[in-house]
Amino acid sequence: MRIHHIGYLVKKMDKAIPSFEALGYTLTVPATWDSRRNADICFLENDGYRVELICPSKESALFPLLKQYSNSPYHICYICDDLIQAIENLKQQKFMLFKEPAPAPVIGAGARVAFLISNRAGMIELVEGI
Ligand code: NI
Repeated sequence: MRIHHIGYLVKKMDKAIPSFEALGYTLTVPATWDSRRNADICFLENDGYRVELICPSKESALFPLLKQYSNSPYHICYICDDLIQAIENLKQQKFMLFKEPAPAPVIGAGARVAFLISNRAGMIELVEGI
């Protein structure tokens, strides 16, 4: 599957963006509040590589992950045509569904994402509809 982005957890969005810009990234989707995830999310690109910065609020289910992943990558997102089918295929490879399919409006108007975890490949995200 093609990679859509690498997801980074960050503690301070306003400080993280200039640091990525210093590395040659361009902000392509400015920081946007995602009420479903209780997090600010933005996207940056560098020579075809896309990075998502996620800055969770204290109320977010993602907030505890900051302890483990402060300012570092925590998932790779893969593009699929059919989210349900891709989930079924990966379940057969011992991936477990971690977050049910849900809209991801910051990625795109019709985008849906789901998260899976594998003991061997870590946390991944699937996106359809982009
Ligand atoms: Ni992501």
